[in-house]
Amino acid sequence: MPLLARISERSHDFVQVSLAFCLFLFSSVASAQDAAQYATGEKLFKMHCGSCHKPDADMTGPALKGARARWEGQGDIYAWVKNNAAYRKTGNAYAQKIYDAWKGALMTAPLSVSNEEIDAILYYADNYAPPAPTGPVAGTPVETASNNESSWIWLLVLALLFLVVGLSLAGVKRGLENSVREAEGLEPIADMPRIQRFRKWAWEHKVFMSFVGLFLTVWVILRLWDAAWVIGVYGGDEVPHYKPEQPILFNHTLHAGKADKGNLGINCQYCHSSAEKSKHAGIPSANVCMNCHKAVDTGRKTGKAEIAKIYAAAGWDGKEFSGKETPIRWVKVHNLPDHVAFSHATHVAIGKLECQECHGPIDSEMDVAEQWAPLTMGWCITCHNQREVKMAGNGYYDEVMARLNDDEKLGHRELQQYLEDGKITVRELGGWECAKCHH
Ligand code: HEC
Ligand code: HEC
Ligand code: HEC
Ligand code: HEC
Ligand code: HEC
Ligand code: HEC
Repeated sequence: MPLLARISERSHDFVQVSLAFCLFLFSSVASAQDAAQYATGEKLFKMHCGSCHKPDADMTGPALKGARARWEGQGDIYAWVKNNAAYRKTGNAYAQKIYDAWKGALMTAPLSVSNEEIDAILYYADNYAPPAPTGPVAGTPVETASNNESSWIWLLVLALLFLVVGLSLAGVKRGLENSVREAEGLEPIADMPRIQRFRKWAWEHKVFMSFVGLFLTVWVILRLWDAAWVIGVYGGDEVPHYKPEQPILFNHTLHAGKADKGNLGINCQYCHSSAEKSKHAGIPSANVCMNCHKAVDTGRKTGKAEIAKIYAAAGWDGKEFSGKETPIRWVKVHNLPDHVAFSHATHVAIGKLECQECHGPIDSEMDVAEQWAPLTMGWCITCHNQREVKMAGNGYYDEVMARLNDDEKLGHRELQQYLEDGKITVRELGGWECAKCHH
């Protein structure tokens, strides 16, 4: 075959390889984006919706898988999610229909989520794949344990691809060189063992190889850095949750879970009664248990064994109290360091947060209480950065707003920037000031 024809054939191969590679790059970037959307959606779902919804099964509210399709042509799903009560008042028939179908269970309103966040949540719900017991299932969105994780996997795949393409290009180059030498009547270059060829090549590309070395070193350091971040963290997505054994097998799902699921549906604050009024939510004394357990001495799972321990602590012999009480030594699950000031009253009474936003599905998925959130500083300030403060109908904030708007008199012109986006986050009220949390 003439040299030119051979070269053009080779370059044809080369064009094909590069085209395929570009296509791959393109599609992998696209699916990396999908995976990121899925991961964001999952996080937001757990944060705002997971206390009432499951993606694939009815819970307090309906399964969210397919919700977008169900709303198609029926109404504005964004308006519904943001404030279902207000949206129902517009007279939308579908909103009324779901409300009637789920009579007795109400969705929180208003919910502070943006349209993009709702998109991510619905994307997650529609593409939800239950965590597989053994490794990820083919065809489901890439592992979503964390965003970070999946981007590293993609980088690795890309690096491998570059290697393969590099090796085949080297082959092409050698072929070309040999055909040129052949045409010039020279001996073709002898075939060396792969490893030797690699060494020669690496020596000729010292700069490139140094970069690769540097890249690998940085990668290892970053991994160690990541691992160091979760030392001493006992909640969140990346580590197993702290879940100490308790002296009595007290079950939150049974006591506080929804009544229509066969549970008792006791309000959290019946037992954690100081959550609205003080820093601490508080742990109930045996007397609170005895309000009911004087009459209930048998449980469905543990029979009389566990409830007998309450009797021992309360000094109850089945007929009367002996007056000899011994406190139950519950093991504390959540432990913020002493240098951090956290107040339940601020978050529950003023911030109007649901307990589940910070304690997770304690009343539906935890038989034994566990630390669901990481309780790191990053966790606190991430929420403060995003969370909109509920201003409406709060006298204190009416005053703040009045001052912000009264720039003539008080000279708060610079503060008006906070109002530009039409909402005020906790951060804008000072939720990022060190002294608010460390004092
Ligand atoms: C406090 C519990 C609760 C929370 C939190 C909650 N929901 Fe709901 N949701 C419900 C209930 C109950 C219904 C049934 C309808 C009703 O309340 O009128 C519902 C209905 C819905 C529907 C209509 C479903 C359908 O089949 O058309 C959508 C969509 C929805 N929720 C989305 C969300 C999203 C997104 C979030 C989080 C940003 C969320 N919900 C948070 C309880 C909740
Ligand atoms: C019938 C009483 C009762 C009800 C109702 C109840 N709890 Fe508890 N809770 C307890 C007791 C007792 C403990 C301590 C034992 C344990 O950790 O399981 C506890 C522990 C906890 C803890 C861990 C505290 C720690 O040590 O850091 C959290 C968080 C919590 N409850 C949240 C809730 C939430 C949220 C609800 C409502 C969904 C709720 N509880 C409803 C009795 C109750
Ligand atoms: C903004 C997040 C947040 C919300 C909302 C929240 N908690 Fe907590 N909770 C925490 C943190 C953080 C701790 C750890 C406090 C510490 O160690 O000082 C905690 C600790 C607790 C404890 C352990 C005892 C104590 O008082 O420290 C209980 C019980 C508890 N929470 C129950 C509740 C209940 C019930 C609600 C809802 C009425 C609720 N929490 C709402 C973040 C929250
Ligand atoms: C408002 C009433 C009420 C309160 C308050 C209450 N319980 Fe119960 N508890 C019940 C009832 C009812 C059952 C039995 C439910 C069943 O098995 O059907 C029960 C069951 C139990 C069981 C047995 C669970 C099983 O599955 O075997 C334990 C243990 C228990 N409670 C511990 C406690 C402790 C500890 C407290 C106080 C922190 C407490 N309860 C407060 C009503 C209550
Ligand atoms: C899920 C969201 C969320 C998380 C997580 C959260 N906060 Fe908050 N926090 C709020 C909201 C909302 C307010 C505003 C309450 C208000 O003033 O309306 C607030 C207010 C505060 C304030 C008062 C700020 C001020 O300007 O007066 C302090 C202090 C605070 N939080 C500390 C913490 C600490 C410490 C943590 C972590 C251990 C934490 N918060 C985690 C939502 C959160
Ligand atoms: C919203 C509450 C909040 C604010 C605002 C805040 N911190 Fe923290 N900070 C925390 C919490 C919670 C921890 C404990 C983290 C842990 O134990 O992992 C912490 C821990 C720390 C630590 C100890 C190191 C560590 O990771 O345990 C330092 C230092 C610190 N904060 C400095 C600051 C400084 C400086 C600022 C102001 C720029 C600030 N913090 C603002 C909540 C806050």
